[in-house]
Amino acid sequence: MTPDPAGRGLATASCASSSCHGGPRGGNHAIHSFSATTWGESDPHAGAYQTLFEPRSLRMAKLLGIGPPHTERQCLACHSVQEGIERPLPRAVLSDGVGCASCHGDASRWLESHSTDAWKGLSPADKSALGFTDLSGPRERARVCARCHVGDADHDMHHDHVAAGHPRLFFELAQLQRRWPRHWDPHGRAESAPDFNARSWAVGQAAALEAAAELLAARATRAAVAIRGGERARWPEFTEFDCLACHRDLAPAPVLASRGQSHPWPLATDATAGNAEGFPGRGQSQADLPRTLPPGTPGWQPWFVTGSRWLDRSLDGDAATAELAERTAALRRLLAREWTATDATRVERIAAEARSLARVAGRSADTLAAAPCITVAADGSRLDTLSAGDPRLWRSWEAAVQSTLALEAACRGGPAPLGSAAPDGPLDDLRESLLYPPGFDAPVGFDPVRFREQRDAVR
Ligand code: HEC
Ligand code: HEC
Ligand code: HEC
Ligand code: HEC
Repeated sequence: MTPDPAGRGLATASCASSSCHGGPRGGNHAIHSFSATTWGESDPHAGAYQTLFEPRSLRMAKLLGIGPPHTERQCLACHSVQEGIERPLPRAVLSDGVGCASCHGDASRWLESHSTDAWKGLSPADKSALGFTDLSGPRERARVCARCHVGDADHDMHHDHVAAGHPRLFFELAQLQRRWPRHWDPHGRAESAPDFNARSWAVGQAAALEAAAELLAARATRAAVAIRGGERARWPEFTEFDCLACHRDLAPAPVLASRGQSHPWPLATDATAGNAEGFPGRGQSQADLPRTLPPGTPGWQPWFVTGSRWLDRSLDGDAATAELAERTAALRRLLAREWTATDATRVERIAAEARSLARVAGRSADTLAAAPCITVAADGSRLDTLSAGDPRLWRSWEAAVQSTLALEAACRGGPAPLGSAAPDGPLDDLRESLLYPPGFDAPVGFDPVRFREQRDAVR
């Protein structure tokens, strides 16, 4: 975003007067007179700056040894519109949290004109040149959301942050949209297409992998520069790896003891040592499973990898998605080899490999966004391909959640019910079974065999 002196193009106040987007709910749909009202009353982003004053944030700051979170760029980058802008913005602008400009773009050069007739005649390219972001399709939406919900070079949620108490970040576009109150009228938009939900899932998976790979490339590049300069490098960066390969639980010991649980995650055995990939299918034991990584090696980003791996299984054959699987496997092998090694040449190779994966994933997202129709078809056999295809992908909690979200996108087609998922018995039970237990910040006690039985009940 480019700054303007008073931050007017970034301030929600510029959009939220009652004659513009700050009118009553259910108001004029043609000009979206209600958008800022909906955002202010029910959007999680409206409170993002206030979050930085909450006890959890203050505790994080103390543990990290940083100043008050609301003055720290490492927090403001995702919790306000102070993104990539050097000069500190006025408090009145920051307090909007993740405001209109965070998604729609800095309005300094289109604020006056976007309510005129001439605006309607502008091409998408003209609007984009003025700094306006077109958010109609899942491709652009995913790009915008991933900036903060996955991260990038300037929005870096690293292991110090999660260890200090920040929630771990997850990204799956279809369900993120479903949980988000809609502040616009979907009629006549790309969103009202019957396959929008499925397309959001598919494009979102490829775009998420693209963002994760770019983040890795940025981290590796930064680390390599530090290593070459003889400085301390943040490498290996632990959030790049399977959290549960190192952590059996993320809960305080007294809480575990009170539940009679000392090791909620099975101790690593021969078959599972050091990586939680894959889980047994019917009639299989864990020992039957082939291992994909050497013992003692945490796998790279199980969340993004399992999600995107389903792309080539769930959608009609597409060369781009096959290449995606190959590139991902290559990067994972490279990261697994001597995974703690910090020689600059190796780290630079990782950066290059991650960059090329990002390119392939980006192309895949483009292809999926432009495909005439996306079917993550909900017939029995396709569902099985989606979630039961390869038992190795099944043992981890990440894979179980991703398969459930894929099922949701497949079963809940049609115009995306944003902000309000319709209840659906067995599917909701499946989702419930995967939630963190109260008082925990981790999926304590996940049982892959029980999950599989419950998944089989969704038909
Ligand atoms: C500038 C950073 C930023 C961007 C861009 C952004 N978000 Fe967020 N989002 C946040 C932050 C920060 C929170 C946490 C707010 C809080 O509770 O303090 C959040 C929370 C949420 C939540 C509620 C938490 C949850 O997981 O249910 C949803 C839903 C959400 N965002 C959806 C989206 C979607 C969809 C997009 C893209 C169209 C998007 N966000 C773009 C920063 C961002
Ligand atoms: C890479 C972007 C990013 C950065 C950097 C970031 N946050 Fe967040 N933060 C988020 C998102 C996204 C969420 C919502 C996560 C969710 O609900 O799944 C969130 C949620 C939170 C929450 C939990 C809010 C709730 O209601 O559950 C707290 C507290 C928080 N952030 C504080 C901080 C602090 C303090 C910093 C700086 C040290 C910081 N964040 C840096 C993106 C970020
Ligand atoms: C987290 C991202 C996000 C934030 C924050 C956000 N919006 Fe939106 N907004 C969207 C998306 C996505 C759409 C749907 C665009 C589409 O389908 O063309 C949208 C649509 C709209 C529309 C419908 C008109 C159009 O074609 O763009 C208006 C008006 C609007 N938003 C105003 C606002 C205002 C005012 C604010 C701040 C008070 C705001 N938005 C904050 C993401 C966001
Ligand atoms: C390569 C191993 C490794 C990986 C992967 C890893 N961590 Fe850690 N984590 C550690 C170590 C070591 C500590 C410090 C433990 C200590 O001091 O007791 C730690 C500390 C933590 C803490 C603080 C625990 C406490 O009680 O102070 C949290 C929370 C945490 N990690 C979350 C995560 C999350 C979430 C992920 C995945 C995104 C992750 N970690 C990935 C090794 C890892």
